[in-house]
This record gives sequence, C-alpha cells and structure tokens, in this order.
Amino acid sequence: MKTVFITGGAGFIGSALIRLLIAKSDWRIINIDKLTYAGNLSSLADARRDPRHIFHHNDICDRQAMDALLTEYQPDGIIHLAAESHVDRSIHGPGDFIQTNVVGTYTLLEATRAYWSSLGESARSAFRFHHVSTDEVFGSLGPTGRFDEASAYDPRSPYSASKAASDHLVRAWQHTYGLPTLITNCSNNYGPYQFPEKLIPLMIGNAVAGKPLPIYGKGDNVRDWLYVDDHARALQLVFEQGRPGETYCIGGRNEMTNLQVIDTLCDLLDQQQPRGAGRHHAELKTYVADRPGHDQRYAIDAGKIHRELGWIPLETFTSGIEKTVTWYLDNTEWTAQVQSGAYRQWIDQNYTQR
Ligand code: NAD
Ligand code: TYD
Repeated sequence: MKTVFITGGAGFIGSALIRLLIAKSDWRIINIDKLTYAGNLSSLADARRDPRHIFHHNDICDRQAMDALLTEYQPDGIIHLAAESHVDRSIHGPGDFIQTNVVGTYTLLEATRAYWSSLGESARSAFRFHHVSTDEVFGSLGPTGRFDEASAYDPRSPYSASKAASDHLVRAWQHTYGLPTLITNCSNNYGPYQFPEKLIPLMIGNAVAGKPLPIYGKGDNVRDWLYVDDHARALQLVFEQGRPGETYCIGGRNEMTNLQVIDTLCDLLDQQQPRGAGRHHAELKTYVADRPGHDQRYAIDAGKIHRELGWIPLETFTSGIEKTVTWYLDNTEWTAQVQSGAYRQWIDQNYTQR
C-alpha cells in the first residue's frame, strides 16, 4: 500500500482528489492542511472518516513539522496542492500568496529533498513530487491559440506570479538535485465544494439570494472550464504514470465567456428554482469595475496528457454545470457554514486530530 501526502486536501480540488483516491485506490492518504478560510474538513464528506485518511493540521511553511511528518510516515510521494488560490485576494493582499505559494513550496521541497536523499536507491527513483499548478502562469491569450507545455511563462497577477515562481522552484529542484518531480498546469475548475468567492459558486449563491451578479468589465473574458472530478482523475494518472521531470497541461476544451457562463447559470436556476412572479435570474446581472490587469483569455491544449496517458474529460460543460447547480441548491448548509466562520468553531469543539 502506497503512502501519499496530499497538501491542501481540505480545499476544493484537494478534497475532490482525496474523495477519488479513497474510492479508487488503496493508498494511505496523509492530508496536510493549514485550514485557512478556504480549507474545510466537511468538504471531504465520508472520506474523512476512512482509516486510510489521516489529517494533520499544519502549515507547509513549517519546516520542522514537514520534517517530522516525512520521518513518521515515510511517504512514496507527495501531491502538492496547498496554496492561496484566489486572484482577487492576491490583488488586495499578495503577502500570503508569496508566503504559502513561494516560501511554502520552497520549504516543502527542501524537507522533501532531505527525506528523499535518505532513501535507498529503488525508493528514491520511485518517489514522486507532483506540483499542482495553473494555466495562469502562461499569461493571457488573444482571440486565438491555446497554451501547451511549450508556452512561455508570462504571469500577470500576484497569484499567477507566485504559482509561476513555485513551478520554477520545482523544476530547479529536479534539474539540480534530481528530485523526481511532475508539474500539471490546469485550467479553471468548477464543481461541488468550491469556495463561494470564485465565479460559479458566487453567482449561484447571489442569484439564489436575489443579490446582484457582479460582472467584471464587459463579461467577455474567456476561461476554459473543467469539472473538478476530471481534474482529480488527471492528477491520479499523472502521479502514477507521468514521466519524472515532465509537465502536463490539463484542460476541458470548454471555452466560455463569463457572460455565457452566467447566462447558463441563470437559465438553470430559472428551471430548478424559479424566482416567481415572472422574474428571471438574468435580471440580476450587474456590470461592475473590471479587475485590475484582468487576463482576457485562457485556453489549454491537453493533447499531451491525452496522447501519452489516455486522459480525456468525462463531463461536458452542460452535464457538469447541471450537477454543480444541483449540488449548490442541495447543500446550502455547506455554503453557509464555510462563509459564516461557524465551521471553524465546530472544528475546535468536535475534531480530534489523529
Ligand atoms: P483552495 O483555495 O480551495 O484550497 C487550498 C487549500 O490549501 C485549503 O484547504 C487551504 O486551507 C490550504 N492551505 C493554504 N495555505 C496553506 C499552508 N500554508 N499550509 C497548508 N495548507 C494550506 O484551492 P483549490 O482551488 O483547491 O486549488 C488547489 C491547487 O490547485 C492550488 O495550488 C491552485 O493553484 C491549483 N489550481 C487551481 C485551479 C482552480 O480552478 N481552482 C486551477 C488550476 C490549478
Ligand atoms: P475566478 O473564478 O476568480 O477565476 P480566475 O480569475 O482564476 O480565472 O474568475 C473567473 C472569471 O470570472 C474571471 O474572468 C473574473 C470573472 N469574475 C467576475 O466577472 N465576477 C466575479 O464576481 C468573479 C469572482 C469573477
């Protein structure tokens, strides 16, 4: 049985990955998460109670804690997702992004290098350090073309610059010290358990509450949307079968303008939870000041992961967004809990660390 560290396992994508691995692997999962505002153990659903899931409430910037966990559990690999992840927050306060995404990744790499150097030859070559990154490191596209593994780095927000820095550190540790690393750069994810500050859950929550739907600029920015479970499957595949030292781009081939996404959400909500009195959710659309430095378009060419590892997304945008809207309508308690801060109190009172 493999032992794998997952950092950021209480976040949106990390929790989807842990739910998948508990269902589809026999690995022992050591989930290391600081439980920032974005980390919630309730997102793990039943996987949280499985004996193969062990949670540690730690900061990846804490070198001593990382050393102790590596010594205690002797992992076969690490899938590193812990990060500050919201562009708007990075514009308001970049400090935490530099600390966790850059210093945290550096700290984890150094702790891992010390542990990995102490292993025997076969364990050393089988070990993997998989860094989960974003397509935003490549900057912004014009109306045509797509990012792929050969795209030049050109990050433009504090968030994407911090992720680009961490990608460079991971590559340097591979090139200089021979650490067997993997990097994946994925497009925008959506699905259940996404913190309601990101476009899709924010719009669903506001629409249901009858609040304005704030559209930055003209709403013509394009994102390439991928259902989170498709990303999680890609991560498992790359971790198991990817070639050390390589990068894999992951995307859904689902390019949509923000307006198209919001209109789709409004139509679904009109069907699933009508406002009544002949009113439509789309009437709540409100144009607001644009995000500073707003990247115009992201799109991914996922040809390499398809050709080499056979990955394709299973959800279309139509099927994924329907599931997502239904999930948010059925799980209003989760949203209320993660937003109110009551959850944090609940952890202190109810959660016993194993
Ligand atoms: P998220 O914000 O939902 O979750 C991040 C998790 O990391 C949280 O549980 C948080 O508590 C934890 N964390 C933050 N700082 C930490 C620290 N110092 N030590 C330990 N844990 C810490 O983010 P997400 O959307 O799940 O993204 C996960 C990863 O995937 C990130 O690295 C992000 O850059 C990358 N990514 C995200 C997307 C997307 O669309 N959301 C797309 C591509 C790549
Ligand atoms: P977001 O979900 O923050 O992801 P990212 O910035 O990493 O792509 O935003 C997705 C798109 O939606 C982006 O073009 C900004 C836009 N947006 C809005 O128009 N209004 C909003 O309230 C938010 C949060 C985002």
